Amino acid sequence: MLQKTFFALWFLSFLSNAYGFGSSTICFINGTFVIGDACSHQSSDSQVLIAKPSTDSATTHKTTTSASSSFASPTTVNNVAIKSSSSSAASESPFSVSPPASKQTSSSSSQISSSRTTSSSPPWATLPTIGNAPKPKGSSFELVTFYQGEDFVNNWDYFTASDPTHGNVHYVNQQDALSLGLVQVEKNVTTIKVDDTTQLSSGQNRNSVRISSKKRVTGGLVVANISAMPTGCSIWPAFWLVGDSWPSHGEVDIIEGVNRQTRNQITLHTLPGCTRNDNAKPAAGQSIAFSGTPLQVSCDVTVNSNSGCGIMSTQANSFGLGFNQNGGGVLAMMWDTMGIRVWSFLNGSVPDDLTQMNPTPSKWPIPDAYWSAATCPVDKYFANMMMVFDTTLCGDFAGALFPSSGCPGTCAETVADPTNFKNAKWIINSVAVYN
Ligand SMILES: *[C@@H]1O[C@H](CO)[C@@H](O)[C@H](O)[C@H]1NC(C)=O
Ligand SMILES: *[C@@H]1O[C@H](CO)[C@@H](O)[C@H](O)[C@H]1NC(C)=O
Ligand SMILES: *[C@@H]1O[C@H](CO)[C@@H](O)[C@H](O)[C@H]1NC(C)=O
Ligand SMILES: *[C@@H]1O[C@H](CO)[C@@H](O)[C@H](O)[C@H]1NC(C)=O
Repeated sequence: MLQKTFFALWFLSFLSNAYGFGSSTICFINGTFVIGDACSHQSSDSQVLIAKPSTDSATTHKTTTSASSSFASPTTVNNVAIKSSSSSAASESPFSVSPPASKQTSSSSSQISSSRTTSSSPPWATLPTIGNAPKPKGSSFELVTFYQGEDFVNNWDYFTASDPTHGNVHYVNQQDALSLGLVQVEKNVTTIKVDDTTQLSSGQNRNSVRISSKKRVTGGLVVANISAMPTGCSIWPAFWLVGDSWPSHGEVDIIEGVNRQTRNQITLHTLPGCTRNDNAKPAAGQSIAFSGTPLQVSCDVTVNSNSGCGIMSTQANSFGLGFNQNGGGVLAMMWDTMGIRVWSFLNGSVPDDLTQMNPTPSKWPIPDAYWSAATCPVDKYFANMMMVFDTTLCGDFAGALFPSSGCPGTCAETVADPTNFKNAKWIINSVAVYN
């Protein structure tokens, strides 16, 4: 028993050192090593928590790698702060490096790539088919799940672990979320907000909420109808999907951005081997496969500091204050054997078939984002995903880009002042899943 434990600890420390997940939670679920906070979603006997994130080790890690950080010199592109890089990956995309956008790992900056000491494939590189995405359909989707109003209280789980992305937040439980008024339901509309009344001192964590759907999604069409998203300096909201085993079951970020960003960033994070195909075939009758601006090509969490393979919407008002002032919109993510596509339909341009709950993607315009299965076999990289809404503050993304965001002061000072969080709320009409 003791020997086994020693072996497990040795093996994990080997993994940590080799792949740079030194400050992440690592656990073993149903025969798979799992890295990240998916561990803390598990409570069954099948999980053995072997390593826990430690603030100390994270800090040490950051300090020791900061000299080689790929996020050294911030620049601004299309109103969006992008930290630039001098790495060889720069030739892959018009942006040198997109920000560290994953919310699963507790690593930051260049930890993952810089501390990787071997070029051999990780132990999980040989992938079975796990996902079984449905075949493409032009129409005749069937509604399988519909969340509205109280459903976000009763049928979603409230995440209460420390933020894996080092944000200045304290995620409250369901009871506190309700009693503190951070989650409110009125007339079928659900508001999920960051505490906007408590004066803190600089560096303290502010109360916020992170929820995940109890039902899982494998393939189909996810449709989120929202009137507003949290926005402002220090704020990093996201609507995203993640499997139990991160990164084995993948991560799809449907809404994401930070600070004063005005365009939505849509990103996949996966095991090695999944890339975005920028020569993907357009859908019938369309001139291009997707309209957004491509960021990094590789979705592999072990490269480019786990930036993932992002696509930034070219639509003005697809993120932040502009999105809210325009009346919000509907985000649709279609996941089938062709790959993964995301449309952002802003208020005023939502297809009637979607409003009538009879989605017909074959009639929709060019998607903002598309990852073709030709270079990212979705059946191998994505499965059984929960949907997540969260709002964190500062941390690995909003904090890292704060100095180049045009926001005054420091990120921690911004968090301390409750008046900065009057617009830090999700206003959610519904989330639907079709198959
Ligand atoms: C682990 O296996 C059990 C039993 O087969 C299953 O119910 C559970 O969903 C699995 N957990 C994960 C995270 O795959
Ligand atoms: C909430 O939505 C349900 C249908 O989903 C509807 O029957 C009900 O009237 C709505 N309630 C309010 C207050 O709008
Ligand atoms: C959506 O846009 C229309 C104009 O196209 C506007 O009249 C309406 O107020 C907007 N909805 C919201 C919720 O702001
Ligand atoms: C989104 O929600 C609004 C408010 O309930 C509703 O009027 C609209 O029809 C919904 N749109 C879709 C596509 O579900």
